Amino acid sequence: MARALLKLRGVEARYGRFVALQDVSLVVPEGAAVALLGPNGAGKTTLLRTVSGMLAPTRGEIRFGGERIDGMRDYRIARMGLAHIPEGRGIFPGLTVRENLTMSSNVGGNGGGVKRALELFPVLGERRDQVAGTLSGGEQQMLSLARAIIVRPRLLLIDELSLGLAPRLVTHLFDTVARIRDEGVSILLVEQYVTHALRLADIVLIMAKGRVAFIGEPGELERDERLVESYLGHAGTASYAIAEGPAPAKRKARARSAKRTAARKKRA
Ligand SMILES: Nc1ncnc2c1ncn2[C@@H]1O[C@H](COP(=O)(O)OP(=O)(O)OP(=O)(O)O)[C@@H](O)[C@H]1O
Ligand SMILES: [Mg+2]
Repeated sequence: MARALLKLRGVEARYGRFVALQDVSLVVPEGAAVALLGPNGAGKTTLLRTVSGMLAPTRGEIRFGGERIDGMRDYRIARMGLAHIPEGRGIFPGLTVRENLTMSSNVGGNGGGVKRALELFPVLGERRDQVAGTLSGGEQQMLSLARAIIVRPRLLLIDELSLGLAPRLVTHLFDTVARIRDEGVSILLVEQYVTHALRLADIVLIMAKGRVAFIGEPGELERDERLVESYLGHAGTASYAIAEGPAPAKRKARARSAKRTAARKKRA
């Protein structure tokens, strides 16, 4: 297994007296994509905010590249190579596409980054003088991804990339995230589209009520439909259905039952 890039141990986070994260331990290995699933209110967004320093943990430790980052200010953590695309798009809506991109490149001190971002998302080049707030939802999401990779992060936190987007666009965005991962950037991604998340991820993590309820490989979830349903309820199976028909586990079960029917017919 590759070296741990991000490591959480016994992390707790609160909003006032409400405990939103409890005893959370997890590892994101160097170069891996980790998908974070779970029902609404499970604490997924809170976990990303705690890692990127927007929220200070009240217990436990967080290490990034071996260094303690819990309690560190968010801009310092960002400078260490951790980029966070927050829920609801990390862009400046009043600035143009070009301004949004060059702002990132100033922060990251990397002129080549803008060129690379435009290679990945040519549509942003066509729209470079448009005010970002008037881009379509999908274009805004491309811009937030582009902004995040311009700084050449070591770890990219992504919160619901697919929110409100058409399935075809979601596929395109996920392909791009896979390319970014293949270039060596580690990914920790919160996602509702279970199918996409499982296809991309090397490790899957399910959260429930502020705790980690499951850690495993995507195949374990695909093989066990009950596991998906027990943690993700109908939301889990529904997002399979939205993306591409029934869940893999369901398809396999159906194939098995068809085989059994065929065997029965043969016997009769
Ligand atoms: N600023 C806040 N103040 C108080 N409670 C909050 C705050 N933000 C989130 N919470 C609560 O913390 C819990 C976890 O919220 P969080 O946003 O992390 O969930 P989530 O897993 O991202 O859910 P979703 O899938 O709906 O985005 C929820 O019960 C939520 O109501
Ligand atoms: Mg959330």
